[in-house]
Amino acid sequence: MKKSTSVAWQSPSNIAIVKYWGKHGKQYPRNASISLTLSAAATTTMITSTPADGLRVSYLYQGRDKPEFADRVERILGQWAESELPGLRDLHLEINSYNSFPHSSGIASSASFMSSLALGIVDILSAGGLSPEDAVAMRRVSHLSRLGSGSACRSIYPSVAVWGEHAAYDGSSDDHAIAWADVHAIFETYHDDILIVSSAEKAVSSSAGHALMEGHPYAATRYEQAAVHMQWMRDILRAGDIEAFGEIMENEALTLHGLMMNSPTSYILLEPATLSIISEIRAFRKEKQIPVYFTLDAGPNIHMLYPHSEEARVSDWREEVLRPHYQFAIRDRVGRGAKKLSAHEASQILRPDADFAN
Ligand code: PMV
Repeated sequence: MKKSTSVAWQSPSNIAIVKYWGKHGKQYPRNASISLTLSAAATTTMITSTPADGLRVSYLYQGRDKPEFADRVERILGQWAESELPGLRDLHLEINSYNSFPHSSGIASSASFMSSLALGIVDILSAGGLSPEDAVAMRRVSHLSRLGSGSACRSIYPSVAVWGEHAAYDGSSDDHAIAWADVHAIFETYHDDILIVSSAEKAVSSSAGHALMEGHPYAATRYEQAAVHMQWMRDILRAGDIEAFGEIMENEALTLHGLMMNSPTSYILLEPATLSIISEIRAFRKEKQIPVYFTLDAGPNIHMLYPHSEEARVSDWREEVLRPHYQFAIRDRVGRGAKKLSAHEASQILRPDADFAN
């Protein structure tokens, strides 16, 4: 009789503080990066496997067919089966995934999605025995996530993750991310209000952006700067120096966008509203002496970060001053990383009448 196995995992998105920008070979980073793990923006993926002749995949997103995602899923599963997971070669995989945030919202869903897929697959291949406490298995998950989407490898760990070899971070590796626990408790309380100023599809993908770093006139300087920022960041995180943390974070965000603007094929992802919010944040910080800082992914949306103790003052001001500049906000917080869900928990999330469909 054919035996089927089902597993479900929820994995969050993450926001890089020191950015990964530039890659080589099989998705290896040109510089080390560090991120905060989020919680509200997450993907739940349920996988049911049954023995089959050859790898077969059926994929539903938000309970519906989504051919462009299904193609990507099949491609990465094919790669994993080919390179290092031969156990996948004789399975039929029914995969269902659900994002807690609209995929078209302009925030990266590939990190949460790829990591939830890698978790589910490794769990299936270990007959449902994968535990987030198993450090060796989680490194494997992180490695597979990296092959799917670079920054996804950082999403599975609690609070802070480091990806890319760097002398200041013991155990760091280009191959997979590691959890970084030498962090002051203040950072565990951080909020990330993701202010969506545009949910339009990005004009230039991250992959194209990474590619433009090859031959970029400032590439070498950028990689040196990232290494220095990583060095400083280790001590800043340990000490809880939230001002220094914010200064480097903003510098990293603007450097990332600067590199896009001044690459030989120039492009700009910032919107006028992005700049308006940036100047409001800086003015508010200066006037009220409140440690609220911003960062950006490869897109126009603002991630506004601050410690929990400032929530009331920041919220009042956000509603009063920033509200006209963004479409909607995803109010996120630093989270504990990926978690396994019971069949019951998964069925609550993967319900057919999902709130939204993209
Ligand atoms: O993981 P990718 O290939 O989508 O690249 C992500 C790059 C940034 O989000 C801009 C930075 C980062 O480190 O996450």
